Amino acid sequence: MPTQLARAVTRVTYGARQLPRVAWYLGHSLVLREIAQAVREREPPSTARRAHTAAPVPSRERIYADMAKLFFQDLANVEAGIYPMPADNDGSVSDLIHRSRLFFDDLPSIHQRRKRRAHSEVLNEATRRTRPRYYLQNFHYQSGGWLTEQSAELYDTQVEILFNGSANAIRRQALPQLHEVFAGRDQRKLRLIDIGCGTGRFIDSLKQVWPKLPVLGIDMSESYIKHARRHLQRRSRVHLSVANAESLPVADDSQDALISTFLFHELPPKVRRTVVRECARVLKPGGRFILVDSLQRGDRPDYDGLLELFPQSYHEPYYRSYLDENFAALAGKYGFVHIRDVNAFISKIMVFDKR
Ligand SMILES: C[S@@+](CC[C@H](N)C(=O)[O-])C[C@H]1O[C@@H](n2cnc3c(N)ncnc32)[C@H](O)[C@@H]1O
Repeated sequence: MPTQLARAVTRVTYGARQLPRVAWYLGHSLVLREIAQAVREREPPSTARRAHTAAPVPSRERIYADMAKLFFQDLANVEAGIYPMPADNDGSVSDLIHRSRLFFDDLPSIHQRRKRRAHSEVLNEATRRTRPRYYLQNFHYQSGGWLTEQSAELYDTQVEILFNGSANAIRRQALPQLHEVFAGRDQRKLRLIDIGCGTGRFIDSLKQVWPKLPVLGIDMSESYIKHARRHLQRRSRVHLSVANAESLPVADDSQDALISTFLFHELPPKVRRTVVRECARVLKPGGRFILVDSLQRGDRPDYDGLLELFPQSYHEPYYRSYLDENFAALAGKYGFVHIRDVNAFISKIMVFDKR
């Protein structure tokens, strides 16, 4: 009886935390769809660019059913003791409302950029030689690219709206893959890097499981690292550094695990190879390398159309090549064994171990 009661409490608590969150972001995404429709109707057909695909696109019902499966898996992981009840740490209600206003205020600028296909605003004399050319783009047509404080402040709201409130749950699906290699080991002696850590949301989830694990988060954006520092200020043993994934600031064979969430689809194919080679350099033999990113073509054939539509609406210059990248072969070339792929809604977790 007590275990049944404990299970009921876990499920109610989980629902009480996740359902309002999904409702909030899904609500935004529905409003966004209405706005986009109204804008399409207002604009003359010759100026409106219509996204198109001949591949199958999942129905709304199918998308919601797959999203529900992700949350059931998330709950199952909590019940199995793989991680504690997740805290998404989104801030107060007034923080949420503030970010929602920023999001809607920024929409007209994104729309103008999309219409003009203006994706190089962040490439200018001041930035040109500071970072690689591929990085200096307005990915997703977002204001400030990766470079401004405003972009860092808006990023998580934008991603959660894109994923209907499931982005953190998707990232958490990497935790069972770490649990498999970390369980029973002294976390203080392990080393992990989050590559392209952005605003630090994955590190936050990680720290809820392994609070004493020394973690390095690197990202090429000063603004995102600054935001991550604020978000993670209460977490100990977290070091955050502005660095390029192509040249990680650590010694050979020094890391037990590496993770990267939603970075690889934004890298040109050549840079993807450089980063995987760099990962092979810094991981210890037997170390684990986890990639969390979009589904690829053929992973769920009825999603292929949705994957094709995505880069037509958002500036994602390397996404098409990502869709057909053979990561098992790529990683194999640099000494990794492909362990498994696990689908998580519209994303997947790719797991590799260094030989
Ligand atoms: C789509 S965001 C993903 C952020 C975060 N990992 C997440 O789960 O939301 C991509 C991030 O990768 C960073 N980035 C892109 N190219 C990079 C590179 N070559 N080295 C380091 N960071 C990079 C960007 O600054 C941005 O913060």
